[in-house]
Amino acid sequence: MNTQKQKISFTAIENGKIRTIETFVGEYPNLMFLLRDKLFLEDFGECGGVGRCATCIVKASDVKGNSQKKDRNEPTTLAKLGFEQENIRLSCQLYISTDLEGAQIEILEL
Ligand code: FES
Repeated sequence: MNTQKQKISFTAIENGKIRTIETFVGEYPNLMFLLRDKLFLEDFGECGGVGRCATCIVKASDVKGNSQKKDRNEPTTLAKLGFEQENIRLSCQLYISTDLEGAQIEILEL
């Protein structure tokens, strides 16, 4: 059995700064925790990842697979704020999976 963690690489944009983020499947519980840790974001993910606060909002381009689908609290929270676009996401609702390989994740300010 292959026990090596699958590597993932994607681009993160914050305040116009572009960075390549390297991670692996399951390194963090979700994308919000990863971004907060690796980019030292303050006031990001205030509800702890339950999809209610929208402080972890991102524009997620080129996400693949099941991660394209919004479920649980995500569609409701985003609709309340008037975000209907498919690529506007709550980063706490995106798992660290190979669906993020090659994606572009831009941190948005509410
Ligand atoms: S951490 Fe609150 S909605 Fe994502």
